[in-house]
Amino acid sequence: MARRIRFNAFDMNCVAHQSPGLWRHPDDQSHRYKELGYWTELAALLERGRFDGLFIADVLGTYDVYGGDDRAALRNGAQIPVADPLLLVSAMAAVTEHLGFGITTGTGFEHPYPFARRLSTLDHLTGGRIGWNVVTGYLPSAARNFGADDQLDHDDRYDQADEYLEVLYKLWEGSWEDDAVVRDPVRNIYVDPAKVHHIGHSGRHYTVPGVHLSEPSPQRTPVIFQAGASPRGVRFAAENAEAIFVAAPSKRVLAQTVSGIRAALEAAGRDRYAARIYALATIVTDATDDDARRKHEEYLSYASVEGGLVFMSGWMGIDLSRYDLDDPIGEVESNAIRSAVAAFQEFDDDGREWTVRDIGRWAGLGGIGPVFVGSGATVADRLQEWADDTDVDGFNLAYAVTPGTFEDIVRYVIPVLTERGVYPTEYVPGTLRNALFERGDRLPPEHRGARYRPGGPGSTALPDEESRNVAGELIT
Ligand SMILES: Cc1cc2nc3c(=O)[nH]c(=O)nc-3n(C[C@H](O)[C@H](O)[C@H](O)COP(=O)(O)O)c2cc1C
Repeated sequence: MARRIRFNAFDMNCVAHQSPGLWRHPDDQSHRYKELGYWTELAALLERGRFDGLFIADVLGTYDVYGGDDRAALRNGAQIPVADPLLLVSAMAAVTEHLGFGITTGTGFEHPYPFARRLSTLDHLTGGRIGWNVVTGYLPSAARNFGADDQLDHDDRYDQADEYLEVLYKLWEGSWEDDAVVRDPVRNIYVDPAKVHHIGHSGRHYTVPGVHLSEPSPQRTPVIFQAGASPRGVRFAAENAEAIFVAAPSKRVLAQTVSGIRAALEAAGRDRYAARIYALATIVTDATDDDARRKHEEYLSYASVEGGLVFMSGWMGIDLSRYDLDDPIGEVESNAIRSAVAAFQEFDDDGREWTVRDIGRWAGLGGIGPVFVGSGATVADRLQEWADDTDVDGFNLAYAVTPGTFEDIVRYVIPVLTERGVYPTEYVPGTLRNALFERGDRLPPEHRGARYRPGGPGSTALPDEESRNVAGELIT
């Protein structure tokens, strides 16, 4: 049977997300990112295309690695100005019924206690359609603005993220029992205190003794997205992620990354396919191959190589302005996105070494992933070939211009995939987790988060009376 293909849309609350320079294209509307209508129209369009979700990236710093300051990033509008992703979701949820929302926040920048409540709130308001893309950060400028000299070392950031998730699982999974809210006017009880547990967390980075502030939402834990592909990142993903976003410039690197992730999922005691893997890609399509090629040439004429190098310097943690444009990257140590460096140290699919110029050009349209150009049928062939050869579940689609790129995909590519029987004809009803796996709304028992349920092996909740005496809340 032909392999099914899933789509996610990749965006950010800024202009020309991963296509620096394309904000100058007359069809691009990303400068409207400050208007609610821009987001609600996009959400409705994606739902018409039966996308699994809209994935909204985020950073809390500037890309000031290239050239040693933020001027090139500002000139290019390279993810600066950038606004908050979470605040977009309620409005988009109000105009859609099925579309999932994967929002990005970092584990180093906000205490897990208020964050747990904000995500529970969104899970309630979306009817269980929220996902969280867990990132550990890669921009030193973000860490500096939180008062540190630099970001933590790469693997230490993941260690901190492990504890961050532990606190969240305890709050989301372990604090409130399903029937804690009784709303009983006869006995005059809104919540049964015996069914709400103090989590009693005391760790290296966080101390959270009390209860979660929100009552259980449809999914409790939002669908956990992750996007790190270094060895430490993959280990973290294997324990936590339910959807994994990968980005590779060649099919060979992508296939290696995916098989590493599938093996790591098994090593963590989960099914090889327990996480949906989406590969970053950009589609430029039109009625015919020639029209699509012309469109691609036109987009490329707007792409900024400098903007591409600003991004790649930030992702790699290397100031590429110090290299000659014809230099290969060679051996370098990175404290940023290690998988991004590793991907460009490999040869490309044509067996050539990547130079700095190639990398800047490549990243000028759609970021690190490939660009598929052609009619709906041609693009569908490429997507199916990449999915078959790399074992991904689907694609995380960046845009060249927005909403134009997504409109073209819905118009030209999705009908072909649907006709071939490899794209869904309707949504699976219910929460985002159920839509992705058809196994219910909550985390499955083999997932790490399930260990923190009341009475589970990871639970640190104190016995009810003891915890309330400690907190001084018990009235006897
Ligand atoms: C497709 C994709 C999207 C990402 N989106 C974000 C993001 O929005 N914000 C962020 O801080 N990091 C983002 N990252 C970075 C990763 O979450 C992770 O921190 C990074 O890959 C470092 O991990 P690694 O060295 O294990 O690869 C993204 C990575 C990929 C591949």
